[in-house]
Amino acid sequence: MCLFRGTLFLFLVITVSGFEQSNGSEVSSGHHSGHRLRAHKAVRRHRAIHDGALRFEPEPYSKKLELNSSGKIHCKVAGGVAPSIQWYLNEEDPLPDGVTSSNGTLLVTEAARRHAGRYTCRAVDGNDTITAKINLDIVVSPRILEPSSGQQVNVVEGQTAVLNCLATGDPQPTTQWDRNRTLLLQQPGVSTEDSANASSARLLVLNNGSLIIRNVKDEDSDMYGCLAGSAAGLARNELVLLVHAEGTLPAQESSGVGGKAVVVSISVAAAYMILVLALMYYCRRRRLRSRQRGEKMELEMAEGREKLVEEGEEDKPKVANGSAVQNGRLLPHDRDSGADNSEVSGISRASKKSGQYDHLTVPRTLLTEQITLGRGEFGEVMLAKIDMCQVKKLKSKDDAELEPKMRQVLVKVLTTKDETQLSEFKRQLELFGRIRHENIVRLIGLCNEADPHYMLLEHTDWGDLKSFLIATRTAEETAEYLRRVGPAHPPPPPAAAAGAAPPPLAPQHRAVLAAHLAAAAGRLASKRLTHRDIAARNCVITSQLQLKLSLAALTRGPHSHEYCKRHDQVIPLRWLPSEAVLEGEYSTKSDVYMFAATVWEIYTKAELPFGKLNDNSVMERLKNGTLEWTVPDSMPDSLAALLKRCWSNSPADRPQFTEICEEMTTILQNMTSDDITGHTDENNA
Ligand SMILES: *[C@@H]1O[C@H](CO)[C@@H](O)[C@H](O)[C@H]1NC(C)=O
Ligand SMILES: *[C@@H]1O[C@H](CO)[C@@H](O)[C@H](O)[C@H]1NC(C)=O
Ligand SMILES: *[C@@H]1O[C@H](CO)[C@@H](O)[C@H](O)[C@H]1NC(C)=O
Ligand SMILES: *[C@@H]1O[C@H](CO)[C@@H](O)[C@H](O)[C@H]1NC(C)=O
Ligand SMILES: *[C@@H]1O[C@H](CO)[C@@H](O)[C@H](O)[C@H]1NC(C)=O
Ligand SMILES: *[C@@H]1O[C@H](CO)[C@@H](O)[C@H](O)[C@H]1NC(C)=O
Ligand SMILES: *[C@@H]1O[C@H](CO)[C@@H](O)[C@H](O)[C@H]1NC(C)=O
Repeated sequence: MCLFRGTLFLFLVITVSGFEQSNGSEVSSGHHSGHRLRAHKAVRRHRAIHDGALRFEPEPYSKKLELNSSGKIHCKVAGGVAPSIQWYLNEEDPLPDGVTSSNGTLLVTEAARRHAGRYTCRAVDGNDTITAKINLDIVVSPRILEPSSGQQVNVVEGQTAVLNCLATGDPQPTTQWDRNRTLLLQQPGVSTEDSANASSARLLVLNNGSLIIRNVKDEDSDMYGCLAGSAAGLARNELVLLVHAEGTLPAQESSGVGGKAVVVSISVAAAYMILVLALMYYCRRRRLRSRQRGEKMELEMAEGREKLVEEGEEDKPKVANGSAVQNGRLLPHDRDSGADNSEVSGISRASKKSGQYDHLTVPRTLLTEQITLGRGEFGEVMLAKIDMCQVKKLKSKDDAELEPKMRQVLVKVLTTKDETQLSEFKRQLELFGRIRHENIVRLIGLCNEADPHYMLLEHTDWGDLKSFLIATRTAEETAEYLRRVGPAHPPPPPAAAAGAAPPPLAPQHRAVLAAHLAAAAGRLASKRLTHRDIAARNCVITSQLQLKLSLAALTRGPHSHEYCKRHDQVIPLRWLPSEAVLEGEYSTKSDVYMFAATVWEIYTKAELPFGKLNDNSVMERLKNGTLEWTVPDSMPDSLAALLKRCWSNSPADRPQFTEICEEMTTILQNMTSDDITGHTDENNA
């Protein structure tokens, strides 16, 4: 099913690219320890001494500005003696009309399309120069041209109704139809233009967004919603379809539903029902399996392909052989690594043959339209498009000509020389390569025919969950957020233009998203894998409102304030339990804690955890065990109680994912029909 119709990325905030900083030279060493945290602590500590060096703080990042709006991009510099900061277009062209630079801030007064482009911030201090490049995008939030809000459409039984869902925006939004607040494509008997049924289907969604209802029947009378979404936001209008018996079409008096504001909400009833069933099935199977094998750490077959001896819940320290690393490259002889009990050797044992990654190879020439999102732990992180049919062809060695199927992929570039990071890269390859689950992104391939290597992960049409949550904040929620947290960590600006309020997330949506996450994390746990950076920024969401766990880990760029440098490792401090921060102990139990933190984000619409505290205060409270999560009122009590347990200081007190997912099933069941119907009633008025 080609549901991904468009090109959209919901990244409201953006991109850091190419930093050319005065570098603290990369030190690699043969000394290695098992955890991201511990590693290189001692070796690289000297970097902190260069406190006076010229540097960006924080690094400026790319931005999307609404057409005709004004905006600022800050470029703040620390260190040096008396640095002068200047912005340039491209490398060093003068700024275009309407864009000024003052005290390091790039100011756009009335954003026009010609302002879009690449800008460079350059700071000069004596002989020291540092530069940062960012992209400025000028966007237009989606606006629905057809149907108009509350429009009434009258048709006569037996005729064909054509309902257009037409939206403008830049980038061009993709659209979805829902009926009675359930996405149409999830309802039975609805076909898409591409399906085999198209010519005969009675209900057909066309690629241009129009909904065709052939041979209209009385029961087609209902409320239909047209939802448009793009990187710049979401918009939704509803129309009422009235079917009349032949000869009873009323006079053209009513073409609007009395101007009544339509409460906007996409129903999740269908998604939710499917999920409850899936969760129940999953829980039952898990329970059965753990009973059968007594929670032994035994091997699982992943797609009948890999046969890996799994590690225990806790990663054991690794020994490095310190030879197999070159810049941005996984050398073939990595497989000879002397490491033991490590992820590296896990991969190695999986494939004693040379070219252990060959089956993943995808030529990078297949990637198009790359844009940089920021930087992660290994190097740049980009979005690109890839023709999945070509990828499929590579894998099946099939020559059949197929229609191109362009999909978004997240590209993680491996430019680091650091061995710890290299093994982390491999760990992530394995994590996403081994697991097939509808709520976990898939590893699409690896571009390893040249340096630097690229890891390609599935991405979704609606982009990352964090931006999505922010986009669905209502004006009151945004105001409330600012009141509570203050401007210290301002959220990225809601991109929706005035008036085009995005649809709020219904309570069922939030619960379903939380349950999706539980299912994903539970699957990882069942494979004895740890994720280590579960957070809204690392999840993506589809236009079908399906959550998928990913791992963009943009440690620099739009999400950099969510990470914190500790002993030269960059960690998501506010999402981590104390044993992970202080001891570097990552386990499924730390994932449980992070799961709870992410569910908290879903309910707070992506608020920064402990937004009022600075990193040092969070650290202090973690150390003396006084960090307290407070849950928002909108959260069901049963879920709040579950999260509280997940946040227990002692890992042993935290529930297992099996229990969490059973609990989520119950929570969802308790939110059933009365909630959902309660919500729809107002439509029928
Ligand atoms: C940065 O690294 C390059 C090579 O990696 C080196 O030539 C240069 O001297 C370094 N600059 C600083 C300021 O350390
Ligand atoms: C932006 O401003 C121009 C001229 O002032 C106007 O023609 C255009 O419609 C505006 N666009 C939006 C999206 O507001
Ligand atoms: C730049 O900053 C200095 C001091 O911080 C201030 O005096 C000056 O007015 C600022 N310039 C502009 C254009 O804002
Ligand atoms: C800049 O470089 C010149 C020679 O290249 C040197 O004489 C001068 O001391 C340097 N100035 C600073 C501030 O480092
Ligand atoms: C989409 O295509 C159908 C059939 O070709 C047409 O009737 C309809 O008007 C189109 N919709 C839009 C929005 O152009
Ligand atoms: C064709 O339509 C029928 C019902 O309209 C549906 O059950 C069937 O799955 C559809 N087949 C395909 C290939 O879409
Ligand atoms: C709309 O949804 C409500 C609640 O789920 C249901 O009672 C009603 O029958 C639905 N209407 C139609 C026309 O399907």
